[in-house]
Amino acid sequence: MRFGRIAAFLAVGLAVAGSTPASAHPGSASPLAGAQPGSASSLAGAHPRSDDGSLRAAARGTGVRVGTAVDMAALAADDPYRAAVAREFDTVTPENVMKWEVVEPQPGVYDWTAADQLVAFARENHQLVRGHTLVWHSQNPSWLTEANYTPAQLRALLRKHILDEVGHFKGKVWAWDVANEVFNEDGTPRDTIWLRALGPNYIADAFRWAHQADPKALLFLNDYNNEGVNAKSDAYFALVKQLRAAGVPVHGYGMQGHLAIQYGLPDTVLTNVQRFDKLGLRTAFTEVDVRMLLPADAAKVQAQTEGFNLLLRACLLVRHCVSYTVWGFTDKYSWVPGVFDGQGSATPMDENLQPKPAYEGLRETFLLAG
Ligand code: XIL
Repeated sequence: MRFGRIAAFLAVGLAVAGSTPASAHPGSASPLAGAQPGSASSLAGAHPRSDDGSLRAAARGTGVRVGTAVDMAALAADDPYRAAVAREFDTVTPENVMKWEVVEPQPGVYDWTAADQLVAFARENHQLVRGHTLVWHSQNPSWLTEANYTPAQLRALLRKHILDEVGHFKGKVWAWDVANEVFNEDGTPRDTIWLRALGPNYIADAFRWAHQADPKALLFLNDYNNEGVNAKSDAYFALVKQLRAAGVPVHGYGMQGHLAIQYGLPDTVLTNVQRFDKLGLRTAFTEVDVRMLLPADAAKVQAQTEGFNLLLRACLLVRHCVSYTVWGFTDKYSWVPGVFDGQGSATPMDENLQPKPAYEGLRETFLLAG
């Protein structure tokens, strides 16, 4: 359904190299080319659905699952937060609790408590889980250093970590962010403990081990600043082709989608998503938030709404984009103010869980595509 009648509308403002968006999906009618988001409800009325007003209901039938990162402390302590996670989303991603430093605080000592709680919550609410993340340079346990281990030992530790973690969640995690942030902005491999100790093949190894532990899970690469066409996404495109030629089980390309309106919005997202889509690879927006320099004003709120929508529209316009996940849905628990000085208001709901225009925009775009 999603790339039929409204493709031209969804493509408004999305640059597509070498072709118009409409011709990228032949046969797409364009009666809504001039439509504004406000017309969503009349369109939805023509195609009745049970709509409780949630993002989840709006996404139904589009082929794109809508998700959020979950803060486990908030899930335990904050009832309205918990209710909103259950009501609004099809998928959940643990914001921190599947990271290596959390699941293996001491060598060989696992703590799956919080991650298991999220998996149970997802099951109760008929949600899928995106696992995050298996090999990364950040949030590793303090004992995991090159001073403590030889390269051969580090390789054995990474193998065991992946087999044990993916094995623990076998059949319970829909998609894994296997390798996170492995390239620099210029497309060179990021200098990490893994690259230094194991060389560039650690990425292929990580995917093979994850697949061995859960052959049904979808296995993703994941990074930021890789949404548009640039040196970093070019490096991923080359890597994917190389991995697949070598028979490595890589299934998806994840774009985090941490945007900041003061830097402008990426303008080649659809072109980029399309090239991965044409390889038959699944794509996903995995950590979307759109931050701004505080205080917010009407123009910034408008730019933010466009930022959230731009990524969703690109996702809806290709065949194999499987999910769109926000990195927290309320400013109450967003990571942004703690990390980016003077910035915030990056999520679709405010600190009181009241929807912002970005939320309404996402809902209307989903409804148009359904
Ligand atoms: C962030 C979390 O949101 C914070 O709570 C934590 O302190 C640091 O990590 N890219 C990723 C995520 O892949 O795991 C990061 O999450 C945000 C950037």
